This record gives sequence, structure tokens and C-alpha cells, in this order.
Amino acid sequence: MENLSREKIIEILKDESQNDWLFSLADEVRKKYVGDEVHLRGLIEFSNICKRTCKYCGLRCENKNLERYRISPEDMILYAQKAVEMGYKTLVLQSGEDEFYSRDVMCKIIEQIKNFDVAITLGIGEKSYEDYKAYKDVGADRFLLRIETTDRNLYEKMHPNMSFDNRLRCLKDLKTLGYEVGTGCLVGLPGQTVESLADDILFFKEIGADMIGVGPFISHPQTPLKDSDNGSFILALKVMALVRILLKDINIPATTAMETLNPNGRIIALQSGANVVMPNVTTTEYRAKYEIYPGKICINENPSQCRGCIEAKIKAIGRTISTDKGFHKKFQD
Ligand code: 5AD
Ligand code: FES
Repeated sequence: MENLSREKIIEILKDESQNDWLFSLADEVRKKYVGDEVHLRGLIEFSNICKRTCKYCGLRCENKNLERYRISPEDMILYAQKAVEMGYKTLVLQSGEDEFYSRDVMCKIIEQIKNFDVAITLGIGEKSYEDYKAYKDVGADRFLLRIETTDRNLYEKMHPNMSFDNRLRCLKDLKTLGYEVGTGCLVGLPGQTVESLADDILFFKEIGADMIGVGPFISHPQTPLKDSDNGSFILALKVMALVRILLKDINIPATTAMETLNPNGRIIALQSGANVVMPNVTTTEYRAKYEIYPGKICINENPSQCRGCIEAKIKAIGRTISTDKGFHKKFQD
């Protein structure tokens, strides 16, 4: 199955009668290669300020209807410490592309947080090789940068003043520097084809990704895509299941966007190939403002409520919570 052809992938994506088979096969592959443990990554959304104008994203700088915030480095370190005390072994530091956090500022934050004996994942966008190297040198372990779509024309339409080639350059630099690299795509962007989703899946395999996040596009009223339809939960789940079947032992999150479109979305994803959940550990006051898309879950909860909620749901389906840092197998020794 790991050598599914492009044609076969397209056929599976189009054929709704194969869905149940696909989801159970992905669940079996998940169990065989990464077991029943679910890795929890504590997510700190530390700034919603962004210089980019991605057409689908509510944080785009042209959205003047959003109250912006920046969490100070001191507070980030405090929240990180609290998350570690709660049991998190990995923290994901995510933000818009906000130049306030210069190379030096980011490095100081990473260095301090590394004192808590925790793995650090960054999700802070496109940077230079030198920036990526500096973060790695002070202890960053992983980096998330979705390609969003491998359809070059669609990519450039969705990302004014950005280039597909630079996105590829970033992913390549991150690999070269020895990060665990996470990428992924949006499912249901206006103009996206099933064929291009098949290409996305094959691209993830080709670059040897360590983590893949897949989520449905959700239309945001304060963006140029406000009149577009949302992506499909089932199609996003199918793309994710195929990724599990082809890439086998990588880490795959049950994404928040899936739960936004389906009230049990993350658990369904965990039973269709996913083995990671990223509960929000940002304090409640900021959550509603990190509005990438509308209807985001957990905006009224606090970090310990989310931890308790997701732990209970995971245990209820017979899975366990991992107590280690949850590196991709090839990075373990
Ligand atoms: N709907 C769903 N996902 C979105 N993202 C950004 N905007 C949206 C949206 N409107 C995703 C992108 C990005 C990740 C952090 O959030 O894929 O990489
Ligand atoms: Fe936040 Fe369930 S994970 S309330």
C-alpha cells in the first residue's frame, strides 16, 4: 500500500464507497507503526500580528477588524513553565509572521524554555537559513511550515507577494539543519483539485516529512474568501488517512480545524490515522483573538480545562497519553 500510485490516490479520494475501508486501514497502520500512545503538544499562540496577506487567513494584516496582541517573552516563559508543570513534554510556539520577535528575541525565549527539559516546535513562518540555524543552535527541535498546497498557481494566488519557491527553500533548509520537519496542506481551498491533493500527499512522502498536519479550509468573513464554501471534513480526513498509509510512522495531529467542522472531529481523526493532539495552553484572554478561521474550539476554556477534556476523550477510546517527548522514530536515538 505504501506505493499507491497517483491514479489510485485520486480514485480513492473521489470514491466515497471506499471511505470506511480507508479509515480502518489508516487506523491499523497507525497502531502497527506508532502504537496506541497519543502525544499531546501544548500550543502557545504568542502573537496574532502578521505581515502577510494569505487570502484565507483571519490574521492577515489587512484584517483591520481584529484586536492584535503580542505576549511578552517573560510571559511566554511563564506560560511554558506552567504547561510543563501540567505534563506537556513538547511545546509548540506559534505566531503570525511578527518581526518584533527578532532572531535574538526568539533565541532568548527558546534558550529559557529549553531549561524546562521540553521539546520545542516552532511555527513562526518563513525565515532565512541563518535564522533557522540560530533557533536550532539554541535548542529548537522541530518546525511546522505547511506548504498549504503544492499547486504552484493556486499557491501564488492564495499568497500575494509570496513565492512557492521560497516556501520550498524554507522546508529544504529546515531539513538540512536537522529539524524534525512538519508540513501539511489545507483541504478545500477554492480552485483546488483532487488531483492536486494527490500531489500534496506524494510531495509529503518525497520530502520525507516527519509530521503532517491536514485541515479543512474554513471561510473567514474578514478575508477575500468570505464567500467561498468551507472545505469538507470527510475529504480532509481522507487526505490525512492516505498520508498515514503512505508515510507510516510519522506524527500526525488530529487538527483543531477538523473539530471546528465536526464536534467529534479530533477523536474521529485519532481513529483514522492521527496520533497527536495539540491542546491550546494559551491563557483564555488571548484565545478568541487568534482567529485564523471562525468557530475555533476552546476559546472560552483555560489550559487545564483543555488538558482534562482531551485526556478524558482519549482514554475513553482506549488510547493512552504518552509520557515522552514523542520524536519521530528516526530521531529517537
Ligand atoms: N481555515 C483553515 N485553516 C487555516 N489556516 C489558516 N487559515 C485557515 C482557514 N481559514 C491554517 C494554515 C496554517 C495553519 C497555522 O492554519 O494551513 O498553516
Ligand atoms: Fe479544549 Fe476540549 S480540548 S475544551
